[in-house]
Amino acid sequence: MCGIVGFTGRREASPVLMAGLRRLEYRGYDSAGMITGTGNELHLRKKSGKLAELGKLVAMHPAPGCYGISHTRWATHGGATDRNAHPHMDSTGNIAVVHNGVIENFSPLKQQLQSQGVKFRSDTDTEVLAHLIGRYYHGDLAGAVRQALTFVKGTYGIAVMSKQEPGVIVGARLGSPLVIGVGADGTFLASDANALAGYADKVVYLNDRQLCTLSGEEWDIRDQDMSPVSASVHDIGQYLGDGDAEIGDYPHFMLKEIYEQPDTVANAMRGRLADGDATAHFGGLNLTAQQLRQIDRIIITGCGTSYHAGLVGEYLFEELARLPVEVEFASEFRYRNPPIDRNTVVLAITQSGETADTLAALRESKRMGHTTLAICNVVGSSIAREACGGVYLHAGPEIGVASTKAFTSQVTVLAMLALYIGRTRHLSSIQGQRIIDELRALPDAIRQALTCHDHVKRIAEKYAEANNVLYLGRQFLYPAALEGALKLKEISYIHAEGYAAAEMKHGPIALVDEHTPSVFLVPRGNVFDKVMSNMQEIKARRGPVIAVCSPGDREVAAVADDVIPVPDVPEYLQPIVSAIPLQLLAYEIAVLRGCDVDKPRNLAKSVTVE
Ligand code: AGP
Repeated sequence: MCGIVGFTGRREASPVLMAGLRRLEYRGYDSAGMITGTGNELHLRKKSGKLAELGKLVAMHPAPGCYGISHTRWATHGGATDRNAHPHMDSTGNIAVVHNGVIENFSPLKQQLQSQGVKFRSDTDTEVLAHLIGRYYHGDLAGAVRQALTFVKGTYGIAVMSKQEPGVIVGARLGSPLVIGVGADGTFLASDANALAGYADKVVYLNDRQLCTLSGEEWDIRDQDMSPVSASVHDIGQYLGDGDAEIGDYPHFMLKEIYEQPDTVANAMRGRLADGDATAHFGGLNLTAQQLRQIDRIIITGCGTSYHAGLVGEYLFEELARLPVEVEFASEFRYRNPPIDRNTVVLAITQSGETADTLAALRESKRMGHTTLAICNVVGSSIAREACGGVYLHAGPEIGVASTKAFTSQVTVLAMLALYIGRTRHLSSIQGQRIIDELRALPDAIRQALTCHDHVKRIAEKYAEANNVLYLGRQFLYPAALEGALKLKEISYIHAEGYAAAEMKHGPIALVDEHTPSVFLVPRGNVFDKVMSNMQEIKARRGPVIAVCSPGDREVAAVADDVIPVPDVPEYLQPIVSAIPLQLLAYEIAVLRGCDVDKPRNLAKSVTVE
C-alpha cells in the first residue's frame, strides 16, 4: 500500500524523505512524490514509476527546505501518472496533501467543488481533500484539516502542509496507520515505523480520528473536538533494526527472508519455552491460565498467508489443546453475524498488523465483547495495539511481498500457544516437555531443509513454463499445500491451486494431463498411504508429480517424477519444514520467468484498503 513520510526540523528534509520512502518501497507502489518548503515557498516534485525516477528529478531540480511531506502511491483512483502522483495541491497552491486510504464519497464532493468553479488537475480522490482543506483554511491548518475531514467518508492517513505555516505538518488518521517519530533533530510522520529507522527510535502512535500537529521538535495530538490528547512515547529502536531491512548479498529480499527462517523461528521461540513447567509462556497474552481454561472455542481470522497459518493452527489446537477452532477469512468474518457464545476467543493473525479486513474483523469482535488476541510481526501496528493481548513474531521486517518467514513464525507461535493451552487442560508434563524438545529442534530442521535449494533450482527449470500447477496435501499439510500454491501464483503468475489431496478426485483431477504438474506433500505420517494412492491416480493420468517427502523414501521415488526430501519432524511441525522447498520452488520459477520477485505486479505488502 501507499507510504507516507514527513519531516520537520533542523536538517534538509529531502534526503530524509527519500530515505524513508526507500524503506517503504517494499509495500508496493507505482508513483512517488514530495514537497518541501522554504519560508513561504513550496517545492513540489513528483513522478510516476519507481522511486529512482523521483530521485533523478530531485537531483536535477532539488527540493530545498527543512520540512516536507512525501508519498509512494499504489493507485486506487486514476492511473499511475505524474499528475496523479501525490502530493496534491489546492487551487491556490497553498495546501499540499499526501493520503493513504480511499475517500468513498469523493465523486459527489468533486462534483460539488467543480460546480463552485474548482478546476481539478488529477483523477485522484485525494485532490478533493486538498481543495476542501484550502477552502477552510483561514490561518489555522489543523482547524482547516479537521473541518475538511468532517465531509469525508472512507479511510485516510494524511499529511498536510501550508506555505503560510512554514515548518508545520498536520497529520490525521482514520483506518490508515500514522506514527509520529521523535528524533534528535526534528519530528517525523510516517505510515509505517520502518521508515524511521536510522532517524528516530521513539514513536507515538496516532489512533483513529486523532489529528496531530508537528513543528520542529514539537508535536501535539488532538481528538475530534480538537481537545489535546496525551499519548505515550514508545522506544522501538530494538525492533527497527536497520540491518534487517537491508538486502545484504542476496539478489532479492524474498530469498534473504527464506534463508533467515532458522533464526526467525528461533526468535519466535526465544524466552517462551519453559522447561521447568513443560509449557510455553507469553508476556503479552493478558490472559491468565484460569481465563484460558474457560475458553470453549477459538475463531482464527486473517487473510492470505496468515489465513493459511490459521488453518494449520486449527489442526494444532485440535491436536494439542483439544480445542474446537474455526478459521475465517477476515474479509468474510467482518460482515457475517455468526452466533458466537461467550467463551470464544477471536485470534487475528497478521504479519503487518494493518490489513484492513483483519483490523475490521478484530474491531467487530471487540464491539461484540469478545476477547481478542493477535499474532503479529510489526510492533505497535494497529492490530497489535487494539487486540486485548497477543504475541509478536520477532521475525524482523518482512520486505518481500510474498510472505515466507512470517508464515513459519506464525505456525511456530500457534504451536506454542496450543502447547500452552493444552497444558492447562490434558497435556501432561512429559508430553509438554516432548513438544518443547521437538520445537527446539525446528531451527536445525529448517537449516537442513534449506540444503535442497540447488536441487529445487533444477526442478524449477523443468516446470517454469507450466501454466497450471496443483498442490496437494492432507491433514496438517493441506494448509501447506494452499500456501505453496499461493507462493507460486503470486510471484510467478502461474495459475496454481492448493487442494486437500483426496478432494482432487471430486473435480480437479479433470485438469490433470502431461502439462499439469502436481506438487504432493507426502512425508511419512498417518495418511501417507492415502496420499500415495492420490499420487498414483495422478500418475495414471500422465500427470507429472513433484513429491516433497521423507529423506530416502524409495516408495515415493518409484512413483514421483521428482522428489524433494525434507527432514523428518513430527506431523504437526511438517507444515513448517515443508514450506521451505515450496518457497524456494516458487522463488526459482519466478526468477526464471523474469518476474519482479519482491514486488509482484498488482500486489502490495500490506493491504490497508478493503
Ligand atoms: C502472502 O504472501 C501475501 N503477501 C498476502 O496474502 C498476505 O499474507 C496477506 O495480505 C495478509 O497480510 P498480513 O499478514 O500482513 O495481514
